[in-house]
Amino acid sequence: MANQNNQILKNTNAQILDEFNASIMFDKELYAQDIKGSIAHSQMLCEQGILTLEEQKSIESGLLQVKNEIESGEFKFSLAYEDIHMAVENRLTEIIGEPGKRLHTARSRNDQVATDFRLYVQDKSVSVKAQLKELVETFVTVAGKYTTTLIPGMTHLQHAQPLNFGYHLLAYANMFKRDFERFESSYERNNYCPLGSAALAGTPHNINRDSTSQKLGFISPTIHAMDTVSDRDFALEILFNISTCMMHISRISEELILWSSYEFQFVRMSDEYATTSSIMPQKKNPDVPELLRGKTGRVYGNLISLLTVMKGLPLAYNKDTQEDKEGVFDSVKTVEISISILNEVIKTMIVNTDKMENACKIGHLSATDLADFLVQKQNMPFRTAYYITKDVVTKANELKKDISELTIDEIRSASSELKDVSEEIVMYLDLRNSMNARNSFGGTSSMQTESQIKYFEEWLSK
Ligand code: ARG
Repeated sequence: MANQNNQILKNTNAQILDEFNASIMFDKELYAQDIKGSIAHSQMLCEQGILTLEEQKSIESGLLQVKNEIESGEFKFSLAYEDIHMAVENRLTEIIGEPGKRLHTARSRNDQVATDFRLYVQDKSVSVKAQLKELVETFVTVAGKYTTTLIPGMTHLQHAQPLNFGYHLLAYANMFKRDFERFESSYERNNYCPLGSAALAGTPHNINRDSTSQKLGFISPTIHAMDTVSDRDFALEILFNISTCMMHISRISEELILWSSYEFQFVRMSDEYATTSSIMPQKKNPDVPELLRGKTGRVYGNLISLLTVMKGLPLAYNKDTQEDKEGVFDSVKTVEISISILNEVIKTMIVNTDKMENACKIGHLSATDLADFLVQKQNMPFRTAYYITKDVVTKANELKKDISELTIDEIRSASSELKDVSEEIVMYLDLRNSMNARNSFGGTSSMQTESQIKYFEEWLSK
């Protein structure tokens, strides 16, 4: 009885360990890259006379069959074959016999996994880039409709200066364009092929790394085998790029949440993207942008977690590195869904231009214009103009008016320095004029906003 119990315990331990050790449950995601890499490797081995043409042909068609089996759901994934590399090789050998056993000549799972994972990261960088371009296009298109709609520009979440809403949206077009460029430059930097690095030091076989590199779409092979099998910078880069992109998604989400609150009412999200409360029947909750904001946290977690995995690893390959994949898969899926949802939210949001414009009449948004007027027209030092403007703001508060609503007499009576001020000043305090006055390059004027839209349209058409 005691013996039997021991046996059960041993079996359980073995199974727990198999599960603990294996990555097949998640790295099956890399099956297409694994098969692509193996086909290229077999072709190179054949070119080099290491495999016969017959063997290579049999390997290639066998690998394509394995691919079909995986894609049709026929393939049996089992813990017996630890990871996707072993699973594919084993099934290949079951199908084609002897030649299957020759495939792993002159490579190791260490360069194999580095190649598969890098191919995955490169593929995803390209597809996320395409999504980001669409997102930029959406922001630019919506911005184009609101280049004259006033919205309070804020600093410290306090009313500061009037903007147009198109200009505000273009800030996000800029962020997502930078994200696009980050994915692009990481792609360029990492576009080198690990295959042929073997376990850590290269191989005595007469391989041709240029050939596999070319077949797999890389620029050229990496130049140091040991560095290559221990390097996960490419994975960290995509995690960072995704984190930054999610941070931007989170910031617009935060603004959407604020803007759709009762206090703002600047936008209303289409009903599909708002949910009701289970207890308060009157409510419309911004769950979707809240989730976009919330999911940003786990994406940051994935970045920090891989940085932490890597920080103490001696050269070269260590099994710790197997922990690189789930976080990347999770971050990629999260950013893909987040970009496509945000894209729809922005396309379908209903903008309440009246609320935006009315909100501009609170908080003396054109106060800086009064100071700027005194500097420009009366050659006053800015600091002096600043204090005089403060007096005008006090006056406006006493009258329960916004500075943009003051009459010339009210302005003149606010400070002895202003008693003869030109009537022109009233125009300068007008909110729309104030917005359009900021016509410096990169400023908020409708003209600058329009020309920035042109700039983006050109960028998008490339
Ligand atoms: N499943 C492993 C990983 O994801 C593949 C490489 C294993 N290499 C080894 N020598 N154990 O990292």
